[in-house]
Amino acid sequence: MRPSLSCLLSISFFFTLFFHGAKSTNNLVPKTCKQMVQGDPQLRYNFCIAALEGPASKNHVNDLQGLGLVAGNLIKANASGIFSHIETLLKQKGLEPFYKGCLLDCQELYSGAIDEVRSAIDAFNLKDYFSANIRGSGVMDDSVTCEDGFKEKKGVVSPLTKMNDDMFQLCVIFLSITNMFH
Ligand SMILES: *[C@@H]1O[C@H](CO)[C@@H](O)[C@H](O)[C@H]1NC(C)=O
Repeated sequence: MRPSLSCLLSISFFFTLFFHGAKSTNNLVPKTCKQMVQGDPQLRYNFCIAALEGPASKNHVNDLQGLGLVAGNLIKANASGIFSHIETLLKQKGLEPFYKGCLLDCQELYSGAIDEVRSAIDAFNLKDYFSANIRGSGVMDDSVTCEDGFKEKKGVVSPLTKMNDDMFQLCVIFLSITNMFH
């Protein structure tokens, strides 16, 4: 006996509705990432999704305020991670002086960035998006300044390119979210 066509159709209709419904309640991250990439093409859509999706769903984030805090905390964790990585790199023996100088500069920049992102998160929590944006821009500049230092001497390769780039991308996300509150 074959199941009737109308029965099959209604089953598939039910599943379509169900899965579509389940998905559309949680499209904050893709929707916001898409909007942010349109506003700033430096931001990579796939990075945005990969960075935000996990923490957003883990913390049941369902609005822009929550997403901004997710971004702020990712920046904070990133800045501390980069700082520790620089410390490890600086422990190597016989570092070339210019290269070592760049690492020391980066260490100082990221030490400042850790403080600055804390202030940015505080401001964001107080819904002072203007200050949050200024602080966040400062952190973004730190990542760029760190990376640019290595470019000042030919043949020197930054060991922090990927980390500085991740940091830059996270800052674009944070800044874009603060701008959405204007
Ligand atoms: C920085 O954040 C990105 C995105 O969340 C992540 O992939 C990367 O591993 C982080 N880097 C550090 C050093 O924490």
